[in-house]
Parts: sequence; C-alpha cells; structure tokens
Amino acid sequence: MSSPAEVRIPECARKHEAGTATGQNFPDSFYAPFLSEVAKSRQPSPIRSLLPLEATPGLLSLLAGKPNPTTFPFTSFSFTASAPPTEEGHGGGEDVALSLTGADLAAALQYGPTGGMASLVDWLVKLQQTVHGRSPGEGWTLSVGSGSQDLLSKAIIALLNPGDPVLVQSPVYAGVIPLFHSLHCEQIEVDADADGISSVSLRTILEGWPAEKPKPRVLYTIPYGGNPTGATATLARRREVLQLAREHDLLIMEDDPYYYLFYDTGPRAPSYFAMERADASCAGHPTGRVLRFDSISKILSAGMRIGFVSGPAPLVRAIDAHTATANLQPASLTQAVAAKLLAAWGHDGFLRHTHGVSAFYRAKRDVFEAAMQRHLAGLAEWAPPQSGLFFWFKLLLPGEGDSAQIVRTEAFERGVLALPGTVFLPNGRTSAYVRAAFSLLSAEEVDEALRRLRETVLAVKAASTT
Ligand SMILES: Cc1ncc(COP(=O)(O)O)c(C=O)c1O
Repeated sequence: MSSPAEVRIPECARKHEAGTATGQNFPDSFYAPFLSEVAKSRQPSPIRSLLPLEATPGLLSLLAGKPNPTTFPFTSFSFTASAPPTEEGHGGGEDVALSLTGADLAAALQYGPTGGMASLVDWLVKLQQTVHGRSPGEGWTLSVGSGSQDLLSKAIIALLNPGDPVLVQSPVYAGVIPLFHSLHCEQIEVDADADGISSVSLRTILEGWPAEKPKPRVLYTIPYGGNPTGATATLARRREVLQLAREHDLLIMEDDPYYYLFYDTGPRAPSYFAMERADASCAGHPTGRVLRFDSISKILSAGMRIGFVSGPAPLVRAIDAHTATANLQPASLTQAVAAKLLAAWGHDGFLRHTHGVSAFYRAKRDVFEAAMQRHLAGLAEWAPPQSGLFFWFKLLLPGEGDSAQIVRTEAFERGVLALPGTVFLPNGRTSAYVRAAFSLLSAEEVDEALRRLRETVLAVKAASTT
C-alpha cells in the first residue's frame, strides 16, 4: 500500500496491532469538564436517536417520516471520474464510469445516519487506519459533516462556553475567527512561523497563566500548510505541543485540510492524531486529546461539502447531537457519490490521486515563487509554503507597515485582489502581510498579477517619500 509520503511513526507504533497498545484511552468521564454547557444540555433528537433501531432484524418501522423513494423522479445517477495515476505516477488511463442505482440510489435520495452514510464512514475509518495508524475499536470514532467547517463550528460550540479562553495558532484561518468571536471567547494567540506553531510561545503562555484565571482547555492548530502561512509544523514542535497538551490538560483541535497537499516527498511528520496513538504504544500515555478534522474539499471536490472528524467518541457524539437538531445529516447524494468513487479507487488509488494533486500544486507553487522573485524581490519577504494553496508575504513598507489599505484599495484599483494579513489575526491588529492564493491562475496570469502588485508597492513607497 502506498502512503502519501513516508510518515515518521515510531517503530513500536507501526508494529502495534488493534487492541495491543499498552496505553489506555481516557474513559468517557474524562471529557465531561471539556464539554460546554450547551453540549451537556443538548437533548437527543427524539427521532434520530431511535433511527439505528430500524436495522433490527424483523422489525417493522413506523418511526421516521421518510418519504417513499418511489415518488422521487430520479431513476439513476451516472458519472465518470478520472482513474487515479499509476504506481509510477503516470496519469490515469480511461475514465471510470460509475452509477448509483438500486439500493445505492435509494440511499442517496433518502435521509440517512446523522454521522454519515455507513459505506463512506467505513471507508474513511480504514483511511485513518492506513494513514494515521489508528485502528477502529480503539476508543475513537468518525463522523462526516457538511465540510470540515460544519464540524469545526459544531466542535467549537461543543467545547467552549461563552467567554472561555481558547488557544489559537496565529495567524490563523480567517474562517474560525468569527466562530470564536461569536462565543465571545478570549482568543489567546500562539505564535507561528515557518516551522509552524511555536511550542515556545505555547509554553510561555501556559506557564505564565495567572493562577486565579480559568485556564484554556482547547488549542486550535493547523499542522500542515497552515492557512494563511503555508507552514507545516516540524516533528519537534509537534512533540512539544502534544507534551504541553498533556502537562496542561488541553484538547487539540487538529484542523488538517491540507494534509494531502504536502509538497515534500521525503519523510513527513505524523499528525497529532497519529502521534498520540504512537505515544500510547511507546510511552504508555493515554490516548484521546486530539480531535482531528479532515476535508475532501482540496482533493476531491469543494462543492460536495464533505469533511470528517475523528476523535474521542464523547466529543464526536456531541457534534452529532448538534447535527441531529441543526441540519439532521450531511447530504446523502454527495456522500453516495464520494462513497462510490472511493470504493472504485480503493485506498491505494485515493492516495495515488492525492500524490497527483500535491504534485499539481507543487508546480503551481514553484511558478508563483519564480514570479515573486521576478517582481517582489526586495519589496517583500516570504517563506515558500510547504502545503496548502497560499503564499504569505510581508510587504516591506515604510514605518509599521499596514497592508490593508494597499490590498483593498490601491492593488484592487490596479486590477489585483488578495487578502490583507489583518484578517488572519484573531485580535485584528494591523499587519504588513498579504495572503495570495496560487491555486487557480495560469503562469501568465500569476506573472501579471504580481507585476501589478509590484507597481502598487512601488507607487505606495514613492507616495510615502514625497
Ligand atoms: C484551515 C481550514 N480549515 C477548514 C476549512 C474549511 O474546509 P471545508 O471546505 O472542508 O469546509 C478551510 C477552507 O479553506 C481551511 O483552510
């Protein structure tokens, strides 16, 4: 079985078989202090909580108001998908023709389980086993959501009470800041640099935390290709962060939509989800501090809106309980399409596909980097991203440097749009940084966009000296 790149999971963990790890999982009672009041008081959906009973052999269910699928107009869904590249990395052969008919079609058109369609969940659980060394039945579970954003927002509501402090890697994905903000959480910024989240910054915050103030219980981090920085946390940093989580009793929200885009082909650092299990096998630490978020958005389709959360059952159940009352479930149709494709490709085929995707973006990153050198050398500073879809660069501006006005007005007027760094800072302070997405533009368009940005910066600099 090929893997995305060799993952540095320790030998003792590689050898461990399901159920033989020496470390224990935390008991369910461990999570009670981590769950928010909202999560604890959420009542189970009276209908959805009974749905699993419908599978009882011989039972006649009068339970749910499921519409009769014979009244639905769809008679089949047929689609084609490219075959994954070969083992040697060559492009796939003929497209694979797939269709949803019979029982697959009925499931695709009907209400389904809150945490996702069984066929898709089973496939994803095996993926986590292959990629992260986490065997099913070892105190963790997996649920599908309408994109990882859906699961992240529900996890935040399940873990944080209004006003709680939360540790947030900074700069951070602008899509989570409003989630913490709407709960009036105190966002404690943990610095990040080209080596990912700074464990020194995390230690300083935790060790200097005032004794009279309730300590944060949650750390949010993006380990691969941080959005916006593109930086990936080194193995040493990850080890220290996990150790700090143990010392200070933290849960880690590992938001990892760029895991499969990692550009280096050499050995790679394991996820926190993998590391905590490896430590259970090697050092006997209990497992269950990591709630991991994956997404198919960057590798299969963003519009299908499928993400999945893996982690301790009491936390995933709290997310499911929210789904059961908010949107009932992720869409059955897109889950059925994904399940069909993934079953046809197999795990090997999926991983070969992700290699192809990462190679595609690596080439785009290199084109962008070359254009940065041509147009912005001496006008900006940057570290090339190791994963993800973004370049994060600091404009070398006079004074403190604030990119907001330049990006929003001056650059836009010259025909180029990007995001100013301030939107990625939980406390919204000014920033000289800019985030530029390199996923879509052609080499010619990139060249022109960065030429326009160069003109903008030169004009701003000239204006400041007159
Ligand atoms: C760090 C991060 N987390 C989560 C998401 C949301 O992804 P999804 O499409 O799975 O909801 C994104 C999207 O760009 C992201 O960059």
